[in-house]
Amino acid sequence: MPSDPGKSVSDYREIAARYDHATRWINDVRLEAVAALRLRKGETVLDVGCGSGFSFAPILEAVGPAGKLIAFDHSPELLRIAEGRIADGGWMNVALLESTAEAVRPNARPSAMLFSYVHDVLQSEAALDNLFAHTAPGARVAICGTKLWPWWGAPVNVYLYATHRNYITNRRENFGRPWAKIEKRLRNFKVKVKWPPGWRYLATGTVR
Ligand SMILES: C[S@@+](CC[C@H](N)C(=O)[O-])C[C@H]1O[C@@H](n2cnc3c(N)ncnc32)[C@H](O)[C@@H]1O
Repeated sequence: MPSDPGKSVSDYREIAARYDHATRWINDVRLEAVAALRLRKGETVLDVGCGSGFSFAPILEAVGPAGKLIAFDHSPELLRIAEGRIADGGWMNVALLESTAEAVRPNARPSAMLFSYVHDVLQSEAALDNLFAHTAPGARVAICGTKLWPWWGAPVNVYLYATHRNYITNRRENFGRPWAKIEKRLRNFKVKVKWPPGWRYLATGTVR
């Protein structure tokens, strides 16, 4: 089944209020993904499917006030939480857009792109076509998320299918190798599966 944006918006409407608490156990890999972008002061960063804006603070810390963060998501409820974060941080250099990845029009060319726990976006060629059309060759990309275990981890995978049902609409495609589509668009692609527990990965590369 392909990614289903309509279901995703409605699933996140249900879980938005508890999203930050429910996802606290992935904070470390999300922070590692931002660090892997090796951001410099003054850079422009695109946070793909930014959700409630967990990654905003470390990105903005790295790019400084002269940098710029463009962040988008298609969930209005998560974006309201992201807006609260921006207000609390007093950040003036964030452009927050309500859009799908397939249609978003970033208002500047990013030199770095973050894909943090956005499996549905990673499985949408239309989304990747659009995002890469707005990004210059050489831009750095970091990707993190959940992956299934190999066949011998089948019992864990049953658990992963169940626990991700409200977060990923397309668990049938590439859940064991979530980077399969974006990998082809990147140079110097590297992926690290994080053991334990082995269902998290961090990948990096640069836009061809
Ligand atoms: C698991 S959340 C991750 C949010 C955030 N990146 C993080 O690390 O906490 C997945 C996010 O992808 C968004 N999303 C899924 N498909 C999308 C699409 N086609 N266009 C825009 N956002 C999408 C969802 O609304 C949700 O906010």
